[in-house]
Amino acid sequence: MELREALGRRRSIRFVRPYKTVEPEKIQMMFEAARIASHWGNVQSLGAVAVFKESAPKEVIESLEAVIVGWQIRVAPVVIVWFVNPNMVDEQSDRLRQLLDVGALGFGTKDERKDALETQLIPVFEGIKESLKEPGLNEIDCGQGIAQATLMAYELGLGTCCLGSPFGDRMLSALGVPDGCRFLLLQTVGYPAEHWEAGGQRPRQEFGRLFKMNHFSNDFPRSEEVVSELKKDKMFTRPAPLPEREEELAYLQKALGIEPPGLL
Ligand SMILES: Cc1cc2nc3c(=O)[nH]c(=O)nc-3n(C[C@H](O)[C@H](O)[C@H](O)COP(=O)(O)O)c2cc1C
Repeated sequence: MELREALGRRRSIRFVRPYKTVEPEKIQMMFEAARIASHWGNVQSLGAVAVFKESAPKEVIESLEAVIVGWQIRVAPVVIVWFVNPNMVDEQSDRLRQLLDVGALGFGTKDERKDALETQLIPVFEGIKESLKEPGLNEIDCGQGIAQATLMAYELGLGTCCLGSPFGDRMLSALGVPDGCRFLLLQTVGYPAEHWEAGGQRPRQEFGRLFKMNHFSNDFPRSEEVVSELKKDKMFTRPAPLPEREEELAYLQKALGIEPPGLL
């Protein structure tokens, strides 16, 4: 699938088939996509545990809990628990040395580059190491990894939905994730029970409200030609609500045994 089409098809899929498990190889592909995502200093602080309902211990499955539209956890055959491990920052100097060794960092001869790294760059990072473990930059990079995994899932015909949860610490502890890691997100994964359009492209903020050119007072000019090209490439799809959505929702609710209004 072309990137533009994949971006257009990515949608939060809340209704998946509970009876059809997801092959571990497909979850592996999601993780492979996450692993090659960009991360400051090549630190790689993103980690995850994939919980397979068919094989995980009962207490692990029972520990998974979200608040907003939490019934998705009951329905999904696989739930990924994403976390950030800030202690990976401790290995940052070595990650930089690796980058230098493979020619991804710096100019000059290899010896000159090595010297600059050891005497200039590494001391700077060492000085601010503890602050780099605080919430911020790492989480942004984890988001990039999760986004790549999500696109991979869609390319594989899977549906996913990210779920926040106030019970992160409890879940990480039940999963045996090392101390110091911070919970990020749950992500349900399964084969979609709903049509891929899932009621249509969800509404978004006006383009110009979000993006600017040269100064905050100037909305970024939105070319209609570009919009048409992206429509043609299937990145922009039919906007929600689609005419058949209410009937589709009623059907899905019945099929999956979800109690109305199904928001918790
Ligand atoms: C970080 C994050 C957390 C989210 N948390 C929840 C959640 O707790 N419950 C839920 O139903 N959807 C959650 N979502 C899904 C959003 O509500 C969803 O992205 C939004 O409705 C737009 O739909 P779309 O993803 O199909 O464009 C979350 C999405 C993200 C990226």
